[in-house]
Amino acid sequence: MDNILPLESPSLSRRQLLNFLTGATIAATTSSILYVAGKFIIPIPEKTGVGGAILAKDVLGNPIPAAQILAEPPGTRALVAGLAGEPTYLIVKEDNTLDVIGIVDNCTHLGCTFPWNPTEQEFQCPCHGSLYAPDGSVIRGPAPLPLKIVQVAVIENSILILPWTETDPRTGKQPWWV
Ligand code: FES
Repeated sequence: MDNILPLESPSLSRRQLLNFLTGATIAATTSSILYVAGKFIIPIPEKTGVGGAILAKDVLGNPIPAAQILAEPPGTRALVAGLAGEPTYLIVKEDNTLDVIGIVDNCTHLGCTFPWNPTEQEFQCPCHGSLYAPDGSVIRGPAPLPLKIVQVAVIENSILILPWTETDPRTGKQPWWV
């Protein structure tokens, strides 16, 4: 069974996220919403050879083939384990490629994780009501800062995640996390 978490609704997302974070027995709780095991059995190099990069992984620590994410519909926010294991949203674009920016699932208020609401096109933090735009900008506080972002690259069938150290494209300033 595969453990990528396409988030379709706020309530579903919370359950999926809990599974992701706790490593709960996924088969027992979310079998109907998770992908089929072994859908893409493609060898992926363990080391990327790219400085600072790690491979996007599933909840079990297995690298995720790019084809697996890209098989999802445009607009999908797929939750994967990113840098230092941080839950990170990868975004499938309209042209069925991955966005070069990933969104870290960690509210800048007090660190809650949050779902993507595809109807409202917002990330909605359940803890104190912060709302974020698709790019992670704050729509409504109390979140004081935009969401942390990371670089995403696809090489062959591997998904690489790298720290974002350049100017924050949303603010035009140095990233707050650097
Ligand atoms: Fe997200 Fe408080 S932790 S709004």
